[in-house]
Amino acid sequence: MSIDINQIIKEKLRKAIEVNLKGDNLIALDIGSGTGILAYQLFHTNKFRSICGVELIPKEGLVNEESKSHTLFYQASEGHESLKRYVEFDNYHKIDLYNFYCEYVKAELKNKPLIKEEFENVFQFTFDTEFRDYSNDELFDLIILSRVLHYNSKKEQIKIIKYAIDKLNNGGVIFIVNRPGLKNGIDLKNILEPISNRFRGVNYNDKFREHYFYTLVKIE
Ligand SMILES: C[S@@+](CC[C@H](N)C(=O)[O-])C[C@H]1O[C@@H](n2cnc3c(N)ncnc32)[C@H](O)[C@@H]1O
Repeated sequence: MSIDINQIIKEKLRKAIEVNLKGDNLIALDIGSGTGILAYQLFHTNKFRSICGVELIPKEGLVNEESKSHTLFYQASEGHESLKRYVEFDNYHKIDLYNFYCEYVKAELKNKPLIKEEFENVFQFTFDTEFRDYSNDELFDLIILSRVLHYNSKKEQIKIIKYAIDKLNNGGVIFIVNRPGLKNGIDLKNILEPISNRFRGVNYNDKFREHYFYTLVKIE
């Protein structure tokens, strides 16, 4: 059976939370949240009360009428056949974010989905918004930057990381999945080392195929 990258990312994220974050009333920010699969996983750990997401593309852009096989829903269902079938065929035109969430939670997390009102309370997704234009006064316990940085210019990537560190509670965690091999990809070691006094030791060699994983814990 082939190992899919979604599973690896989710497992690394689960570990980063388990090892570094105590308590059960936490708040997270998912930058480049896409269909929200990482946010859904977080909530169903029972540790988070609220999860914000910011996503560049508009909500209706999650379904791409012209290119069914490249919808973000389709990508998010990689590695899960029943979910993939749901996204691919008859239901294709009917999918909305809440429906997808319900299917995802049942199929992938083997859990009971929240009712719609609770879903809207817990998951505060902002679509059609560049991270640099997103404003939120809260400090977060966890900030996720998964497969997002390389979409931005090199200069912007550095700004995003510094901003994320500023928006973190002491003891909070930034979880990054970086793809240095892609166009605009950068080697984060050069960026993180000069600011390493702001967080606890980080493993620069945690890698699966072309994905590098970083868990930064902000120093209290
Ligand atoms: C490959 S997807 C990853 C989705 C999710 N984070 C994951 O790992 O499953 C990257 C997403 O980040 C979004 N994105 C990239 N740069 C962004 C920015 N500056 N602000 C908001 N969203 C951004 C893209 O639109 C895309 O949906």
